[in-house]
Amino acid sequence: MLATIQKLLLVLPFATVTVFAADLPGDPVEGEEIYMDVCEECHQVDGTGENGATAGDFVNDKKILSQSDEELLLTIFDGKGDPIDGMPSMKDELSDKEMKDVLSYIRQTFGS
Ligand code: HEC
Repeated sequence: MLATIQKLLLVLPFATVTVFAADLPGDPVEGEEIYMDVCEECHQVDGTGENGATAGDFVNDKKILSQSDEELLLTIFDGKGDPIDGMPSMKDELSDKEMKDVLSYIRQTFGS
């Protein structure tokens, strides 16, 4: 019995980490490369999009990252706003997995 409890205590912290990781939509390490390649030119390294001038400001505009993963992935897939000055559709640019990876990077880096 005691051995079982000891084993459980050993396993539990790892189980928690795994469950948490499974909740993330993608791999933030892969996502960082994609962000720097594809998103950074408008959203900037610091995620502010020059205070929203060139793109959505992930840091200060809390409305953006308060949306669900599904909503944000749909915006990345379809684009948003003006066809020329707005957020471009990434559906021909990135795979579904890459969109999840980059969202995961954005949440981890700019989310509060
Ligand atoms: C050509 C410039 C440009 C590039 C490249 C770009 N974005 Fe954007 N993005 C924008 C603009 C502009 C907006 C604001 C659109 C609006 O609200 O009308 C925006 C908004 C967003 C939003 C917030 C949408 C909302 O609900 O308000 C997300 C999420 C986003 N971009 C993700 C990304 C990701 C991920 C990438 C890279 C894969 C990327 N963007 C690349 C210009 C860009």
